[in-house]
Amino acid sequence: MKEEKTILALIGTKRKKSTYKILQMFEDELKKYNFTMKYAFLHKIAFCAGCERCLYEGIESCPYYEDIEEIIKKISKADVLFLATPVYCDAVSGIMKNFIDRLVYFMHRPWLFNKRSFLIATTKYSGGKETLGYLDNVVRRWGCFPMGKIIVRMALFEKNSNQVTKEIEKLSKKIYNDVLNNKKPKPGLYELTYFRIMRVMVSFAKEYLPLDYMHWKESNWLESDFYCDANISKSKNLLAKFVEKRVQKAIDKG
Ligand SMILES: Cc1cc2nc3c(=O)[nH]c(=O)nc-3n(C[C@H](O)[C@H](O)[C@H](O)COP(=O)(O)O)c2cc1C
Repeated sequence: MKEEKTILALIGTKRKKSTYKILQMFEDELKKYNFTMKYAFLHKIAFCAGCERCLYEGIESCPYYEDIEEIIKKISKADVLFLATPVYCDAVSGIMKNFIDRLVYFMHRPWLFNKRSFLIATTKYSGGKETLGYLDNVVRRWGCFPMGKIIVRMALFEKNSNQVTKEIEKLSKKIYNDVLNNKKPKPGLYELTYFRIMRVMVSFAKEYLPLDYMHWKESNWLESDFYCDANISKSKNLLAKFVEKRVQKAIDKG
């Protein structure tokens, strides 16, 4: 790739141990493809106050706007987002969860369609699938569809790191190809239906959540089939349309 691309690694631990180590392995590999990795440790971000002002008044009204503004600026400058978390009790770490909570308005008003994401979980052994299942849902709702994911079981890594090294080489090549070819996302039935149900809800709640409604209107999502240019299956789209009509009908009935 001629042009340098930036990856922002959003890290859900303050330790420079396993998760960081795996990120560094990706950094070394991705350098070969002209990617630069930048690191954002998320533990210094204040706890979400739970006021929902970001939803009702806008993110600038968040009582801790300064710390999240800095991260949002970094996110907007990056080409690719890596979300990396240790598994804590079969889920993302509290640090990662708080970061996601602080950005709850991203889920209502997705905007990261010009970026792709990649997900990493490190675990002693268990809970990786559940953790990345959750993160996968989050990034899709933000708009930056995942190009891939990796679960590293440190109990096995310690005995045989070669397998992980090979997987990282393979995945780095995939990331390079996906970014180079600017591959369109391919939403499944769940995502197409989710988009349409969100649209019904956003219109229904336009008086309570006017910022959401404006975002959707200005993005032309009140008429479109999906948030962005995507590879959409005709049959899945038809099915999603059908579900939207049924939900709209139920809401109109009251
Ligand atoms: C609070 C806590 C909960 C954990 N829960 C799990 C778990 O459910 N399953 C598991 O296999 N490992 C679990 N672990 C181990 C970590 O996921 C694992 O050591 C991880 O690689 C640590 O990443 P780090 O070194 O980047 O902090 C837990 C560790 C902590 C501190």
